[in-house]
Amino acid sequence: MSTTVTPFDPSLLAARVGGLDREEAAARLDVLVPELNRHAKLYYTHDAPEIDDRTYDILYRELELIEARFPALVRDDSPTNRVGDAPIDSLQPFVHRVPMLSLSNAMSAEEVVEFDKRMQKELGDEAPGELRYSVEPKLDGLAIELVYEHGTLVGAGTRGNGEVGEDVLHVVRTIRAIPTKLVGAPLPARLSARGEIFMTLEGFTAMNERLVARGEEPKKNPRNAAAGTVRQLDPSVAAERPLTFMAYAVGEVEGFVMPGTHAEQLATLGSWGLPVNPLNTVAVGADGVNAAIARLGEQRFELGYPIDGAVVKVDDVHLQDILGFVSKAPRWAVAFKYPAEEAETTLLEVTFQVGRTGAITPVANLEPVDVGGVTVSRATLHNEDQVRLLDVRTGCRVVVHRAGDVIPRVGRVVVDEAHVTRPTVVFPTTCPECGSEVEREADQAVLRCSNTVSCPAQLRASLIHFGSRTAMDIDGLGEKLIDQLVGAGIVRRLSDLYRLTYEDLVGLDRMGRRSAENLLDALERSKERPLERALTALGIREVGEATARDLALAMGSLAAIRAATTEDLLAVGGIGPTVAERIRSFFADPRRSAEVDDLVTLGVRFPDAERAAASSTADLSGKTFVITGTLPTLKRSEAKDMILAAGGKVAGSVSARTDYLVAGEAAGSKLEKATALNVAVIDEAGLLAMLAGGAEPPESARADGSVGP
Ligand code: IVH
Repeated sequence: MSTTVTPFDPSLLAARVGGLDREEAAARLDVLVPELNRHAKLYYTHDAPEIDDRTYDILYRELELIEARFPALVRDDSPTNRVGDAPIDSLQPFVHRVPMLSLSNAMSAEEVVEFDKRMQKELGDEAPGELRYSVEPKLDGLAIELVYEHGTLVGAGTRGNGEVGEDVLHVVRTIRAIPTKLVGAPLPARLSARGEIFMTLEGFTAMNERLVARGEEPKKNPRNAAAGTVRQLDPSVAAERPLTFMAYAVGEVEGFVMPGTHAEQLATLGSWGLPVNPLNTVAVGADGVNAAIARLGEQRFELGYPIDGAVVKVDDVHLQDILGFVSKAPRWAVAFKYPAEEAETTLLEVTFQVGRTGAITPVANLEPVDVGGVTVSRATLHNEDQVRLLDVRTGCRVVVHRAGDVIPRVGRVVVDEAHVTRPTVVFPTTCPECGSEVEREADQAVLRCSNTVSCPAQLRASLIHFGSRTAMDIDGLGEKLIDQLVGAGIVRRLSDLYRLTYEDLVGLDRMGRRSAENLLDALERSKERPLERALTALGIREVGEATARDLALAMGSLAAIRAATTEDLLAVGGIGPTVAERIRSFFADPRRSAEVDDLVTLGVRFPDAERAAASSTADLSGKTFVITGTLPTLKRSEAKDMILAAGGKVAGSVSARTDYLVAGEAAGSKLEKATALNVAVIDEAGLLAMLAGGAEPPESARADGSVGP
């Protein structure tokens, strides 16, 4: 079965935008700007996009067209004013001395021709004849800058907003494809090489199999898996994930004269031991470029790693300099994006699914269609804002994507003449499962069933989560059994699990004597789960495994966590205002609190956790620390937990209020700043000495020049 997808038609979009009056344009911007910002954040900060790249690009194009027609309507918060997104605050900032830019897009061969014409026109007599371009696979991972000083890797940062990204040197060091020492001579005194960290498809599949075997969530696609892994705080997690790297550009060079073409520059990086894509080619003129793009397009599913397009760059670096930049992208390069694996079909109906936290998700029920070899009949629409953004209507034609994703999604809507006559999607005002009222939180796109205690859909999903491996790990508590227990009204809340009797169980379908006994045993054993797992099991919104562990380590006991104020919670590493508020309001809710009491009464132990550095006699209260670089034995997260447990504070950046900078190997700009501000700099040994009780670090434990530049 093969389907043809109506290609994106820029002239239709232009015509639509051309037909808007000022008021309609402003109204559309009110939808587009916040939504595109939200999607950029999902993509860059959370590595969990809800729309595919091409749909994003088309919506972005719509935004640009509207802004070009009505410049007075351009909002300050428009994504056209920005590159990428702010760094996540748990990692240390990484400053790019030369900004890392993004690329403008070409959506078709015609747009590549236009690009080439533009280049020729701009350059005029500077470049008579056809231009030469480097054509490269557009690797689908995460952009990274590597900094080498005299051949030694001393820094690595994500792109972030282009000027400041996140310091991920600790993870980058675990990637085998990235040399920690360059080879050959002479080498530049300082070099920043840019490239992409990505995951091979084979590595991705194997990693997901391991995750599933351990009862963890599989990653959605290789790109998100790579991006999520690079921004891991814990390098040991990153080390077991199959990341690799290829360089595609030079940022800054000191003490070395680079050759005059991009292709030669990449070859030079290659000669120093940095991997460079062997499929990069040089093509002449627009036709040559389009042929090279088409060749890559044919190969792209056989490469074994994800690419989402081709990047076309003017090869002559001198010409690049003449061409320069437009706001945030070089004028001399363009990204051609290949369409994702996609197919067009009819949307029959939108139904609503209720999840564990009561979130009500719109689901597109589709006329079954083959997408890259898999029949798809349902796809997620995520939330109400997305439905409005895409203008989804019952009976309309939609393009469905898989693009390596586990869950298929609705990409764009194919707008035809009948579109405006079709019924829009009506969102429920009561829960489709239990009839309770539906709430929409301010600033949140999600509708939620307000019945947090007895909505059967939420209860079912909560029970599945409660019994899962990363939570209470209750063998034998499968989905079928949960359906029966909830359906028969035997289990109406989590704690009812521990009220189950042998008699309750043996009456159920496919439940023999043995299985009933085994389940009761498993339930009994689950009462002893460590604090962090029992916390995970409670299903507090936004409190997954990692946060539960941070909480348990920092606070030590259920009682302490229940009594914690928002401020106490904010002092725990890795917990921000939203999560702190979720935890506080969970325990402040009388029904949930009663439920926790019941679990305790029924024997769930929530055993006290050994607080990080519980043996510490030091009192670091009132002291603010910043941690930077790679410490010899401690992970940064461990050092942070220890400081917090001793009552100190840990900040992300150095300021006059910082008391101590804990500096490890390859400490960079933070160390410079601390020195400039006269902030005491200590090393790991100094920190440990303080934790062991010495209020001031012994002089000998202060970091010496070995950690600095
Ligand atoms: S060149 C100034 N080359 O595409 C030039 N980028 O928007 C900047 N990408 O996330 C980039 N493969 O990480 C370039 N061969 C390639 C690339 C490439 C993938 C990514 C890059 C960034 C995005 C650019």
